[in-house]
Amino acid sequence: MKIESRRQFLDRGVLVCTGFLAVPRAWNQERKSEISIFDLSLLDDWLTPNALFFVRDHFPAPTTSSDKHKLSVGGAVGSPFEIPYADLLRESRKTVAVTLECAENPPGGGLVGHAEWGGIGVAGLLAKAQPQPEAGYVRLRGADGYSRTIPMIKAMRPDTLLALTMNGERLPAAHGFPIRAVVPGWYGMDSVKWLETIEVIREEDAGGKEYRRGRSMVGGVQDAGPVSAMEVKSVFSRPADEAILMGRRFTVRGAAWAGERPVKAVEVSTDGGYSWQAARFSPGQPPPQPCAWVHWEYDWKIPVPGAYELVCRATDESGRVQPAKRPADRVDDYEQNTWQRVRVTAV
Ligand code: MTE
Repeated sequence: MKIESRRQFLDRGVLVCTGFLAVPRAWNQERKSEISIFDLSLLDDWLTPNALFFVRDHFPAPTTSSDKHKLSVGGAVGSPFEIPYADLLRESRKTVAVTLECAENPPGGGLVGHAEWGGIGVAGLLAKAQPQPEAGYVRLRGADGYSRTIPMIKAMRPDTLLALTMNGERLPAAHGFPIRAVVPGWYGMDSVKWLETIEVIREEDAGGKEYRRGRSMVGGVQDAGPVSAMEVKSVFSRPADEAILMGRRFTVRGAAWAGERPVKAVEVSTDGGYSWQAARFSPGQPPPQPCAWVHWEYDWKIPVPGAYELVCRATDESGRVQPAKRPADRVDDYEQNTWQRVRVTAV
């Protein structure tokens, strides 16, 4: 499947709309779920503009309205309640800077972006509902029927949010208007959009988690733990694959992130991964911090014309290093954080 950029998706929308005025039958076209990437060659600012932010939907996006929307908090709690969106807007807000990456984002892929999310702590709402002592998990369900289950301990973290704004603007429809969860440092799949219900549950929901899967000679294919916090990963923004570089200097750029941990270092190889040089964190951009990407750059002095293979790799504060190869036994598509390789020709 060819995945288009968010900009191409929106442009195509305009064309479809124009076409459908001329061809009324298109009114009956089935609504599709959107998957569109952030075009990493447009990585300039720390915050990804809302209109360029990737979108990953499993079902067609619902249509919702703010004055009718209510969030319900219930399940294994002493005091279930419903709260209208209008009341949530009056609560005091906090802002968190969080990088979201889709768990199926391939190396170098644009199913990643970074925004400042403004909203209300999930912990405060859960405390008001008084979870029963044995409650261990929280199920988040969106208006499109999509749901995820996260441990109570993560839901109660002070930065786990019900976001109402994205980069200072009202949450865009494509990103979950009116309310979405933001689960910092965890793969994007847990940040449920168009949030309708928060349900406290005792046991982990069998259907509400995605699992790593490994194949072994003895056990066959087996679950190897739930996918939750993001792995350490780096990507190039420039140069693009197959670029022709003129001259003998080029500033190689990119971004790196490491889930709940800050990135410690990024290295660049210009010989396919045999030798490595340290990249610097981009001056003028925020330094490494948990749950957020950091931008990096490397001044490459190109020795002679020719073909080069550029590779980048990141290391986080705990010493995790981005791997060259995916473990051979992995049979799922999650956590694809192996090195990105970019082939360029210097002329
Ligand atoms: N929430 C709902 N309700 N429906 C969805 O399909 N997709 C999830 C998550 N939340 C999804 C959802 C996935 S897989 C990802 S990666 C992120 O939303 C993507 O968020 P974005 O589309 O705002 O970039």
